[in-house]
Amino acid sequence: MSSQERRARVRALAKINLDLRVLGRRPDGYHELRTVYQTISLADRLEFAFRPVRRNRIVVESEPAIENNLVERAAELLAQRAGLRGEVRIRLEKRIPMAAGLGGGSSDAAAVLLALPVLAGLRLPTARLIELAGELGSDVPYFLCGGRALGLGRGGEVYPLPEGRRAWAVLVIPDEGVSTAAAYAELGPSLTRRSWERTILEFQSWLWSQTLGAAETSEIPTNDFEAVVFRRRPALRRLKSQLLAAGARSALLTGSGSAVAGIFPTPGDAERARSRVGGRAVVVALVSRSRYQDWWRRWLGPHLGTGRRWPPESRYAR
Ligand code: C5P
Repeated sequence: MSSQERRARVRALAKINLDLRVLGRRPDGYHELRTVYQTISLADRLEFAFRPVRRNRIVVESEPAIENNLVERAAELLAQRAGLRGEVRIRLEKRIPMAAGLGGGSSDAAAVLLALPVLAGLRLPTARLIELAGELGSDVPYFLCGGRALGLGRGGEVYPLPEGRRAWAVLVIPDEGVSTAAAYAELGPSLTRRSWERTILEFQSWLWSQTLGAAETSEIPTNDFEAVVFRRRPALRRLKSQLLAAGARSALLTGSGSAVAGIFPTPGDAERARSRVGGRAVVVALVSRSRYQDWWRRWLGPHLGTGRRWPPESRYAR
């Protein structure tokens, strides 16, 4: 086996939730969700170096430093449970704000699960990859798919959806984040008063109106976390109103917050809105699954086999 180093530089894209309904608590303590995920162009940077040697070694450097880094846990999971052997060095440059509901840590973990098997010549069935992703976090499986996707269960049962029209988002990112576990805990009491069937029907009719392309629709996107998060943080509700007043097609808290995203049909509209809202705001593009996958193919280029299957396959696999 040649021990020449194999390198790749990739991006781990953030997501927003175009809709998010929390049905209730499950016997396993997690919450049952219905959500639509969408990748956006904001991204962390990861650099991988892999040497196919007998000795196992995983070194992760992160800028800034992060405790309990999901990147490290993802690489260790591949070594412990999927037969990864060799020397792994990963450098992570964080650009996605944390505790903002943008899925940065999850996307970093998924990037490891996409890149390392290709560099190391591992052949992992998709079901196995999804399973390992789900162990790392509820929305990690989504980032193996990208684009617009439906999330069920804990959020880790993911089905690709048709892409919508091209669109841009203004993302307002408050300095103070929201703890996801705390937001779920606060949501608790209100959930028992609602029927799952009603919430599912409303989610379903919203998604139909989006996907079947009704021109005028009374269905509005919903994020169930807004009720509890906006109560504690009224400034976030004002950000949402500002985005709507600036012409956003929709504006919604993403995940359990604290970022709020307004959707616009052109980059120009988004830019004009960005200059009108307060706080730290950026314009990002919504990234379709085909672009997501094309980017990944480019980043892993020299290490890929000849097929165009997804998840990407290694040329080193035997
Ligand atoms: O799965 P993940 O580690 O991302 O979840 C973080 C926390 O959010 C969990 O510990 C749990 O408290 C809560 N959670 C939940 N139901 C979900 C996803 C997350 O209660 N579907």
